[in-house]
Amino acid sequence: MSASESTLLDSWHHNARAWIDAIRSGTIESRQKVTDQAILLAVLGRQPERVLDLGCGEGWLLRALADRAIDAVGVDGDATLVEAARAAGTSPVHVASYEALAEAQVDIGRDYNLICANFALLQQDIIPLLGAMNTLLAPGGALVIQTLHPWTAAAGDYQDGWREETFAGFKGQWQPMPWYFRTLSSWLNALDMAGFTLASLQEPQHPQSPVPQSLLLVAEPRRL
Ligand SMILES: C[S@@+](CC[C@H](N)C(=O)[O-])C[C@H]1O[C@@H](n2cnc3c(N)ncnc32)[C@H](O)[C@@H]1O
Repeated sequence: MSASESTLLDSWHHNARAWIDAIRSGTIESRQKVTDQAILLAVLGRQPERVLDLGCGEGWLLRALADRAIDAVGVDGDATLVEAARAAGTSPVHVASYEALAEAQVDIGRDYNLICANFALLQQDIIPLLGAMNTLLAPGGALVIQTLHPWTAAAGDYQDGWREETFAGFKGQWQPMPWYFRTLSSWLNALDMAGFTLASLQEPQHPQSPVPQSLLLVAEPRRL
């Protein structure tokens, strides 16, 4: 793990409580207005029986899926968030770092019809993790990624590289989080290198905003 990648996961250990409060009080407007609904519809649209929520955080999506009788399993690298997800819902939730998952060191089940990652792929080295997720999909399965829209997040610097989120404007005590900015072609290359082909791409928008609120990618394992 690079220094930035370990600082990234450490920041979640530090920010877990403040994150749980932010999500559960509904203070992130783009989530309330656009992106929660966007990922939920993208997942439900595939009519999966069994879903893995990768980087599930405090588990809001697990609960939304369980409410719709979908068998959902979560995994996240922060123990406080996992505990909160377990306490608030009924889905099984594993604690594992992405590095451990990439090396298949932890058994989180397999034969998922869908694996989703909602704003959860923030590190540079995503290809080994996505490759490992590919092997956990059932035939006909899909990967659904929602992430920051590269055009919206670029802030005039459209090239791959580490950035910093300071959580300015959020209530509570936050530690800055390094995250890896990826251009659109970099996302598509990573999917390709991990053995996926793009099935669809969406740019969820709010009618009162001139910029997309996220990028949503649906990918399927490449057939040999
Ligand atoms: C922005 S939060 C998103 C959480 C959730 N998907 C949601 O929609 O609320 C990013 C999540 O990725 C997890 N994460 C980041 N780096 C990780 C790593 N290296 N291994 C495991 N989990 C990681 C964090 O613990 C955190 O829960």
